[in-house]
Amino acid sequence: MSWSPNSWRSKRVEQMPNYADPAALDRAIAELGNRPALVFAGEARRLRRQLADVSAGNAFLLQGGDCAESFKEFSTEGVRDTFRVLLQMAVVLTFAASKPVVKLGRIAGQFAKPRSADMETIDGVSLPSYRGDSVNDMAFTPEGRQPDPQRLIRAYDQSASTMNLLRAFASGGYADLNNVHQWTLDYVKDSPANERYIETANRISEALAFMKACGVGRDSAPSLETVDFFTSHEALHLPYEEALTRRDPNSGQWYATSAHMVWIGERTRQLDGAHVEYARGISNPIGVKCGPTMKPDDLLALIDALNPTNEAGRLVLITRMGANNVREKLPALARAVTRAGRKVVWSSDPMHGNTMKTESGYKTRDFERVLNELEGFMDVLYAEGAYPGGVHIEMTGSNVTECVGGANAVTEADLASRYHTHCDPRLNAEQALDMAFRISESLKRVRTSRNTDAA
Ligand code: TRP
Ligand code: MN
Repeated sequence: MSWSPNSWRSKRVEQMPNYADPAALDRAIAELGNRPALVFAGEARRLRRQLADVSAGNAFLLQGGDCAESFKEFSTEGVRDTFRVLLQMAVVLTFAASKPVVKLGRIAGQFAKPRSADMETIDGVSLPSYRGDSVNDMAFTPEGRQPDPQRLIRAYDQSASTMNLLRAFASGGYADLNNVHQWTLDYVKDSPANERYIETANRISEALAFMKACGVGRDSAPSLETVDFFTSHEALHLPYEEALTRRDPNSGQWYATSAHMVWIGERTRQLDGAHVEYARGISNPIGVKCGPTMKPDDLLALIDALNPTNEAGRLVLITRMGANNVREKLPALARAVTRAGRKVVWSSDPMHGNTMKTESGYKTRDFERVLNELEGFMDVLYAEGAYPGGVHIEMTGSNVTECVGGANAVTEADLASRYHTHCDPRLNAEQALDMAFRISESLKRVRTSRNTDAA
């Protein structure tokens, strides 16, 4: 089956914006084709190796970031804060799981959004739906909603700046394990759930002090100061992805160079569709969102299309069932994949199946329900003899009020005060760190019960 970066064009494409001037789109794509790669093949291969460790049960995947990045809200501080919270979560999870945590941002390219309808109607006026900042503007005006190809270039530029910051933070001392843990101690000190978290936090402090006393420090172990940090987004806008798809001169393989990993969304995962066609030809790790309507046979067919040689580290199945569905729907999928011997990473997206609207009209998510789905995910996979290897969350490092609940509980009445998202409600910095502590409790519970089983 022949493949090229543009072979998706012969398939049916869902979720494509309607550009008024197709020639202008072609010009923008041609310009992007001349821009440098944002990530490199060797980095994507490194992520694949780390994900292979996850699929073997020897590491844990943490993927997180904004639902949608935006042009207006872009700032150094914003990127830094998201990065910081992801690292704080990673420390807690590394300790709880006693396994390395693969750090994967939903960042530096997450600009295009799938929509349930092409048009949005407000007070009798119909305009194209907002499809993310790389396509059009959120403002409900004819000019704002007109898809503009120049936005793709701006999205690329912002991704490049973001990448530059992330590379600096990951290697420039900011990621120092002791620093990151110190921030967590400051947080735990003031948290209403202090009692719940202080023990874990103190044990991490002791472990760090012990290592230091043993002479493990900057000089002997440079890895204490740096992290591998990878990027990902949904490969939705295929002309953009095509322009950044490059052949690696060493291996001869094709790579998406817009991010280390890309995923296929719940709405574009048709076996004979354009998005699957695009993804099957690139050698990056690929995510596939699996919702409650996914059938075991469809999943197996997708796995075989995307990973015909069954290589570990290539595929991440990101389940998003909803807290109500996960215990009912996930077992059949897990069983089918395990029986067929397919090597995958199972990761839980506990956000997208748990979105609701408040009476006052805010889209929100309840922290406890999110946690509930995560716990269901872990229980089901362990029961099926599979490994619950990761989590995928929508979060931000800033102090927004978009999801309700958490240790420092955000209430429905609070939502109005700092509701900033361009799309779905995100966990704020405190809620995200709370989540890591709560996940670590589940991981520990599982570890303990497994050890007892073995004994
Ligand atoms: N380099 C190791 C790792 O990535 C240890 C480490 C350094 C770390 N800084 C960190 C781990 C920040 C988590 C968060 O695992
Ligand atoms: Mn979302």
